[in-house]
Amino acid sequence: MRALSGIKPTGALHLGNYFGAMKQHIELQEQHEGFYFIANYHSLTTIQDAERLQKLVFDAVIDYLAMGLDPQKVALFRQSDVPEVTELTWILACVTGKGLLDRGTTYKDHLAKGLVPNMGIYCYPLLMAADILIYRSDIVPVGKDQVQHIEFAQDMAGYFNQTFRPVLKRPEPRLNETPIVPGLDGQKMSKSYGNTIELFGEPQAIKKKIMAIKTDSTPVEEPKDPATCTVFALLKLLGTPAEIATWEQRYRTGGMGYAEAKQRLAELYEERFGPRREARAQWAARPDDVEDILVAGAKKARAVAQEVMADVRDACGIKPRDAG
Ligand code: ADP
Ligand code: TRP
Repeated sequence: MRALSGIKPTGALHLGNYFGAMKQHIELQEQHEGFYFIANYHSLTTIQDAERLQKLVFDAVIDYLAMGLDPQKVALFRQSDVPEVTELTWILACVTGKGLLDRGTTYKDHLAKGLVPNMGIYCYPLLMAADILIYRSDIVPVGKDQVQHIEFAQDMAGYFNQTFRPVLKRPEPRLNETPIVPGLDGQKMSKSYGNTIELFGEPQAIKKKIMAIKTDSTPVEEPKDPATCTVFALLKLLGTPAEIATWEQRYRTGGMGYAEAKQRLAELYEERFGPRREARAQWAARPDDVEDILVAGAKKARAVAQEVMADVRDACGIKPRDAG
């Protein structure tokens, strides 16, 4: 069973990325073969500054390593180091109706924000399907917001297989127990909403953010509803079940202020992520070793991609490259 996933480096990784996706990736490495990549071609749809993109890629890699992704167990690589992926993107484009991409969430979100989408935004799901299908992935562990993209990849595998012959494997999404992590304002936590709690923020700055999480104005003495409270949702991710049961009781009984819950959330954050800061700093000081990890990961991934592309080219009548 092969698990594959990607993270788009467009900003500092946050609790949504961790609990929605990364945590699963790290857990799955014990049971399954894993391919994990930093989706720099996807970032290029919005990050168009060479130096910044390089830094974002490096930061995402060391975040993963510091949180425990083990390059001895899985292949960790840069999306662009397997250039066959862009070739498959084109081939998939030729068997996919435009109507499917018109329904893409990334494209529609762009339109809804009044932005003029470039063709990269429009074709985002094609590139993502190529990412998934080129490694014959069985499962794709992601947050809920990415499920549509995986369904599109399933559809595109079907279009290709029906048009030519069965070459591409149908992948299945795999969700974490926390499909959507809320951000400081209660919306989905996302780099693009500016409502994130970073994995490796400065302790003081993070505490300030936590203390500013939006809550309702129920007075201290009144009972509160944990189900609608962002602070409680985040506590649930970080606390033990016993502690969470106590907080739930305290919310419902009243006599507890949100500031107290936030204070505890800040402590739990520090307990979980504080000790990883040192590991991250050590990786940050070893850029050559980080590069070696990415090169080794790409070599392993590319071997699979080249095999699949040989079948794909053969199925659709594109001569093998080395045949002249
Ligand atoms: P962002 O929305 O901050 O740009 P990405 O789109 O790069 O995040 O997401 C990377 C991975 O993290 C995806 O698998 C996505 O589903 C997951 N993810 C991101 N934000 C959340 C969230 N708030 N809750 C659950 N999963 C999330
Ligand atoms: N679109 C994903 C995101 O925004 C990143 C991504 C790119 C991805 N290619 C992928 C995730 C393939 C899973 C599989 O987070």
